[in-house]
Amino acid sequence: MKRVFSGVQPTGNLHIGNYLGALKQFVELQEQHQCIYCVVDMHSITLPQEPQELREHILDIAALYMAVGVDPKKSIIFIQSEVSGHAELGWILNCASYMGELSRMTQFKDKSKGKENGSIPSGIFTYPVLMAADILLYDADIVPVGNDQKQHIELTRDLAIRINNRFQKQTFVVPEGRFLKEGARIMALDDPTSKMSKSAENDFSRISLLDSDTKIKKAIMKATTDSDAVVRYDIEKKPGVSNLLSIYSTFSGISIEDLEKQYEGCGYGNFKKDLVEVTIDAIRPIRERFEEIRNSLELTKVLDDGRERAEAIAEKTLARVKTDFGLGR
Ligand code: AMP
Ligand code: TRP
Repeated sequence: MKRVFSGVQPTGNLHIGNYLGALKQFVELQEQHQCIYCVVDMHSITLPQEPQELREHILDIAALYMAVGVDPKKSIIFIQSEVSGHAELGWILNCASYMGELSRMTQFKDKSKGKENGSIPSGIFTYPVLMAADILLYDADIVPVGNDQKQHIELTRDLAIRINNRFQKQTFVVPEGRFLKEGARIMALDDPTSKMSKSAENDFSRISLLDSDTKIKKAIMKATTDSDAVVRYDIEKKPGVSNLLSIYSTFSGISIEDLEKQYEGCGYGNFKKDLVEVTIDAIRPIRERFEEIRNSLELTKVLDDGRERAEAIAEKTLARVKTDFGLGR
């Protein structure tokens, strides 16, 4: 049985892009592997967070993992900052990484663009090393993430291989990224040329997993299409309609081809109305399950249990790593 590790930052509510692109696979993977899903709260403080809000978001993400179908009997769900091994291994890995390789991370370059060195938090610079620590701490074989994390996985592998070579033994398991399909890239409803994102200003650009039926309806009815009124998949010429077709197809299980046939000669009105229904049917059970779990004793128990199980694995790895490095006595 292989081990899977992944994490989501508690910086806001998850949207259907996160669900279709990432969380849905988290659920599928737990049928065949031992999965560990983490709420990476220490990653989110690379930028200042409002403490009260951060704490709410941490519990939201944990509850959302469960609401979409991550089963705590099969998988471990836990909060990063509750297992101190992440910070400890993060430091050790920092000592094995180079300024040069961290400077080349495109996410770092994007986030620090136009800023003076004096005003870039060093957490943003070393953040990929903490991510490497998350993964290596659990001897993970597979890391399901979006394409945007490819470089960070590559760095994780480089660090593992570098240290294994130095000590001439398998201090770390060298993990592999499992990159989510391009087809699962959901675009913004108001601008189908950019990715649906948690942080876009226009709330109608996305559908959050916790949105009300009314909000979902409004967002879809307002979604950008085009003027030729033909329901056809063509990313280049019809990015808006194509995005809606992708969402429809993934939620309903009907192929895009069949949808094109079904809506031939219909215009966009009925198509959108049906998509509203399909989307509401998919989201409603998630939202209802979320509301059941969010403030329940069950969530507390799952997170306590998750911390214990995660800690047991982390402790072993850390002991092995400290021995290999010659730390302690
Ligand atoms: P983020 O919201 O950037 O923290 O991403 C969490 C996970 O969701 C990552 O695995 C992303 O690749 C994935 N993801 C984020 N936005 C989208 C999107 N619009 N379409 C598909 N997957 C996405
Ligand atoms: N950096 C990832 C993101 O922003 C989140 C993350 C942190 C992660 N640690 C991880 C993902 C370990 C996978 C494995 O999406």
